[in-house]
Amino acid sequence: MCGIVGYTGTNQASPFLLKGLQTLEYRGYDSAGLEVLSPDGALHGVKYAGRVSALVERCKVANPVGTSGIAHTRWATHGAPNDKNAHPHRDCSERIAVTHNGIIENFRELKAQLMAAGHEFTSETDTEVIAHLVEDAWKGPRKGDLVAALRNACSRLKGSWAIACICADAPGQIAVARNGSPLVVASTADGAYAASDVMPLASITSHVIQLANSQFALLESNGTITVYDETGDMVRDPSTIDIDWDASAATLGGHADFMEKEIAEQPEAIERLLQGRLGEDGIRLDELRLARDELASIDRVFLIACGTSSHVCQIARTMIESWAKVPATWAYASEFNYEPEVLVTPNTLCVIVTQSGETADTLAAARRMKALGCHVFAVTNVLGSTAAREADGVLYVQAGPEVCVASTKAYTAQLVACALLALVLARANGTMDQNGVARHYHDLSLLPDAIREVFRRSWQDKQASALFRRSSSSLYLGRGVNATTALEGALKIKEISYLHAEGYPAGEMKHGPIALIEQGFPVVAIVPADRWHDKTVSNIQECIARGAHVIAVATDGDEGVASQVEHVLWIPPLPDELLVPVVAIVHLQILARFVALARGRDVDKPRNLAKSVTVE
Ligand code: M6R
Repeated sequence: MCGIVGYTGTNQASPFLLKGLQTLEYRGYDSAGLEVLSPDGALHGVKYAGRVSALVERCKVANPVGTSGIAHTRWATHGAPNDKNAHPHRDCSERIAVTHNGIIENFRELKAQLMAAGHEFTSETDTEVIAHLVEDAWKGPRKGDLVAALRNACSRLKGSWAIACICADAPGQIAVARNGSPLVVASTADGAYAASDVMPLASITSHVIQLANSQFALLESNGTITVYDETGDMVRDPSTIDIDWDASAATLGGHADFMEKEIAEQPEAIERLLQGRLGEDGIRLDELRLARDELASIDRVFLIACGTSSHVCQIARTMIESWAKVPATWAYASEFNYEPEVLVTPNTLCVIVTQSGETADTLAAARRMKALGCHVFAVTNVLGSTAAREADGVLYVQAGPEVCVASTKAYTAQLVACALLALVLARANGTMDQNGVARHYHDLSLLPDAIREVFRRSWQDKQASALFRRSSSSLYLGRGVNATTALEGALKIKEISYLHAEGYPAGEMKHGPIALIEQGFPVVAIVPADRWHDKTVSNIQECIARGAHVIAVATDGDEGVASQVEHVLWIPPLPDELLVPVVAIVHLQILARFVALARGRDVDKPRNLAKSVTVE
């Protein structure tokens, strides 16, 4: 949530800052702004409520000139998304400016103290206190030391932050700080850069420094970067990562929007993930960092995540119990963190699933499980993310940058990653022999082509999307693993079309949600050829009897279902019913996109949301 970029060097700062903000806009898009240090020695700020594209237009007129600057794209937490709350924020002297990602929990108390001491505030944000604290520290005994001033300010903060700070009296310098919110820095012959994640830097360098919590860095225009710890000692070997993403992976590449592009990338993402995983004795998953006997002794698996990734956990739970016969449980991280009691055994494996690797609740859950002595395994998409760094083992799903706020390719790749994990556990504890593993691996390898087949049928989704034209609500139903597909399908349509959708286990429908149904009410039923099929067909009939118009996701050849419903979204047959969610959801992603586009929505940047939820 919120994206930060900074640059100091020999080039003009604004082009990189604006391009960087566009790359980071998935993190929040309520307002955007920048501050550049002008050649006349003053700060030149441009900031507005609205998208980065609006800031780009304003900058064409305002023309901020200067070779050092910081910039920000905001997802509002404290203070409405308006011009005055847009970052960066200045101190009273207007010589210091800061951008911030995170939440300053004690800002009210600090603001009161600062106001009592004569500071004047111009915004309602928590961030502005940082600018005033740096102002006070800058006047202190170590005047001229920007990073010391920022360190001093941070010592008074409680909460989470990634901060970039610029001062008109420290030309050519940017001080940055990290505590809880991600921040990377990089150096080239042209200068030094800072960003919330590696994406704005991917076209500039392949090597970045990843600041750890409580670290600071001073960026200088000659490209020097010095990292400090919280006591002010220099850190000689800061953590670095090599970016192996092609910068073009984060561009539209001819697609109308990122959602369309990312849906289309699913088959290749799964193929990449599966490649070379079948070993002579089980699945190769060295990333788990557990020896065979340790794997064999795992007696409980705890899966934790938020949002779409929590749907991965729900299905993974079934895979693990069905294939590895290990008791598995899942939890929303935001709920888990406040459970009064967490029951783990000495051999409990904790799996966190997080596309971004930065979801605050999921990270907190992982830390809690680690403190309880569990081995924590992260399934994530983002290289070098906090989850990847803090976990004991990490499996990168390698789906490539996911820019659209609505998760699509990361969801299906994470499902496949969890299937691999289930097979590893099954082989290690002897509940599956090598033939069984090979058969399941073969079943997984059929998924990319099955998804490609769904793409060829996307006209079915387009036709079915017409059913949502006159409705403000809908019901998504399924059973077993596809009860979760119903939840995920409903979440997709809610978040990008702003239509209410209720995802529900089909068998539970008559315990309440059936009351929603009236003439013409859209119901999406996931009813593949599986053990739950006939039961779900009965539920479809109950809906139709009450006037619902049903869209069914059904397996090729199911004329029985086709004869009853308005539209069928056909999926090819798959040998394993537990893998159907990976294919069925693709129809529901495409359907949601068509419905949203028909309503004129920005499918990549739905209102009120941010891709990376780095606050609790
Ligand atoms: O990055 P994470 O997987 O941890 O994100 C969790 C959720 O915020 C995320 O899945 C969210 O629900 C998606 N926008 C849904 O499409």
